Amino acid sequence: MALKQRILQLLENSRGQALSGQQIADQLNVSRASVWKGVKALQLEGYKIIATTNKGYILLASNDILSEQSLRACLAPKYADIDIVTLKTSPSTNAEAMTRLMSGQLRHGALIVADEQTNGRGRMGKTFFSPKKGIYMSVSLCKRIENMQDVMVITPATAVATRRSIAKLTGIDAKIKWVNDLYIGKKKVCGILTQADIDFESGKAGTFIIGIGINFVEQDFPDDIKDKACALFTGEPTITRSQLIAEIYDNLITLTSDLTDRTFMQEYKEHSMVIGKEISYVINCEDKRGRVIDIDNDGGLVIQEGDTTRKLTCGEISIRSTENEWI
Ligand code: BTN
Repeated sequence: MALKQRILQLLENSRGQALSGQQIADQLNVSRASVWKGVKALQLEGYKIIATTNKGYILLASNDILSEQSLRACLAPKYADIDIVTLKTSPSTNAEAMTRLMSGQLRHGALIVADEQTNGRGRMGKTFFSPKKGIYMSVSLCKRIENMQDVMVITPATAVATRRSIAKLTGIDAKIKWVNDLYIGKKKVCGILTQADIDFESGKAGTFIIGIGINFVEQDFPDDIKDKACALFTGEPTITRSQLIAEIYDNLITLTSDLTDRTFMQEYKEHSMVIGKEISYVINCEDKRGRVIDIDNDGGLVIQEGDTTRKLTCGEISIRSTENEWI
C-alpha cells in the first residue's frame, strides 16, 4: 500500500482526533517530512485534514470522501478480510461487481462502492439517477441457494437491512414499498436491484450481486423524478456515507447468511407502506386493482380482488394515496 494510503488509514482510525507527525512517522517507519508530503497529497485530493502546530494532523469527522480506509475504519473487525473496491466513478457498481467476480478478482462478501454512476441500473430496465455524493453500493453473495423461495427473499432482506441501518444512524423512519424501494413520505429515497448469474447447466444461481442506491444528499433531480424522489439529508449530513454503508453491509451479511430464517419478514411487514392499501398493477398485460391484505414469508404480495385473493411474486405496483394520486 502506498504511503499516502497508510497515512490515511491511521487518520481514519482516529478520525476527529489529532495524531502528531512524529506518531505517524514512528508507526509507519518513515520520516516526518514524508508524512507531511503524504498529508499534503491527501489534502490536494480534497481530504479535510487540518494541521495544528501543537497537536498534529486531524482528519475532520465531517470528511466524506469514500475510500477503502474510511470503510474499513467503520466495519467491524470480523470483516477485516473482505474485498473492498472504491471508485470515483463507475458505469454501474453492479456491472463492475459482476465483471470482477467472473474474472476471479472478488470473493463472497465483496463490497464495491462508487461516488457516482454514469449508467446506474434500476429494475425493469430503468436507469437509476446516480450523481456524485450518493451511495451506490454492491455486495456479492457467492453461495448456492437451492430453494427458489430463498432466492426471492434476498431483496426483501436487503430492504430490511437498509431500512434498519438508516433508522439506527439517522432516526429516519423510511417505509418499504414492495418489493425493493424505500420511501420517506411519498418520495423514493432508495432502490435495490438484485442480479444473479445463472448456471445454464443446472438452471441454478450461485452468484448474486445486491445493488443498493441511496440519494444521500439533496440533488437537482431530473424533471421525470423530481416530484417522486427525495434525499436522506436536505442540509448538512449528520453521518458519513461510509458509516451508513458499513452498517448496511453488516445487516445485509447477517440477514442473508441464512435465508431460511425468515424472522426479518416480520420487520419487513411492520414497515411496509402497502399493507391495507389499494394498489394497481399489471399482470399478463392487463391492468388490475386490488387491496393488499398481507405479505407472505416468501415476500409474495397477497391481494384481495373482490371475492378472490391472488399472490403477486414479482412486478411493479402503484399505491393509491388519495382519490387521484398514485405513488
Ligand atoms: C431501482 O430503483 O429500480 C433499483 C435501483 C438500484 C440502484 C443500485 S445503485 C448500486 C447498484 N448499481 C446499479 O447500477 N444499480 C444498483
